[in-house]
Amino acid sequence: MNDITYKKFTASSPGKFILMGEHAVVYGKPAVALAINKRLTCTIGKSAELTLNGSRIALDSNSYVSSILSANNLATASITIKSELIPGSGLGSSGALCTSLLTSIKSMFGKSYNKKDIASEAFEAEYKVQGRASPTDTSCCTFGNGIAVNCPKNLGKYLWTASKNGNTWDIFDISIPKMTFVIGYTGVESLTASLVDKVRKYREQNSFAENLIDEIGNITMDGIRALSKNDLEHLGRLMTQNHNLLSALGVSCRELDKLVDASLVHSYGAKLTGSGGGGSMIALTDESSKVCQIINLHGGIPLVVSTSVEGIRIESGNPIPN
Ligand code: MEV
Repeated sequence: MNDITYKKFTASSPGKFILMGEHAVVYGKPAVALAINKRLTCTIGKSAELTLNGSRIALDSNSYVSSILSANNLATASITIKSELIPGSGLGSSGALCTSLLTSIKSMFGKSYNKKDIASEAFEAEYKVQGRASPTDTSCCTFGNGIAVNCPKNLGKYLWTASKNGNTWDIFDISIPKMTFVIGYTGVESLTASLVDKVRKYREQNSFAENLIDEIGNITMDGIRALSKNDLEHLGRLMTQNHNLLSALGVSCRELDKLVDASLVHSYGAKLTGSGGGGSMIALTDESSKVCQIINLHGGIPLVVSTSVEGIRIESGNPIPN
């Protein structure tokens, strides 16, 4: 038994990037996402009013926070968020917020839960806020390491299944070695809900969009196999192809295309990551410093990240039961 009485409960979650398959995964196609060594930390304590980082806020002023608090029958609390992830940069700040807030709430109430509960409840919150979503980001922020969605069963360890709107997502843990990637942030905020909605409308109006989504699914499956064989050349080519298909789907932008094209000179491959429309791109490269320089030269903000990191973690408070 734990004999410490906690007043504040702190949990953290890693950010993530999508290696391949974003947007198509919303329609049940495969995807692969990797957790990164940048985290978001959430501290919660009981309070008579609702405060965020020391200021009083209305319950509906942050849609992710309000969705999670309401689902846990909480109207007031003192919440502090510290983050190494820029919101809207495509690196999973909302997934990390939902999963760490949920974990800190469960820790505060001493509730029995497991990682699947966190992944599933955080997915519900993202789905509600965004109107449509896949469980990729929230699962990756919860379990850490690398996750593959709807991949061949022999390539990963089964974690859990989510179903919604006629789509089913089987989530697997994939053991990947520690790798480094270069991120290029455009400085342009990426609005996941509106980009997901843009793709929905395009898909409803034009069968070409459905073909693009199918093709993203096919090459992502190849990408998961290439990653499992550590075939970086093939993986890089598939990533660049994935970028071109996402561009055709209408979710890239001038800034992203510029950073992707420039990075390719020193990379196996490069693509936008996450919802696009701004946010970030990723490059798979052995020449990180050259790619960072080139991203800088083309107006982006470079960041070198490494993978193979832990998922949700209790920083202080009641430990994760299992
Ligand atoms: C956003 O990081 C990834 C999208 O595929 C949306 C989702 O999967 O929920 C664009």
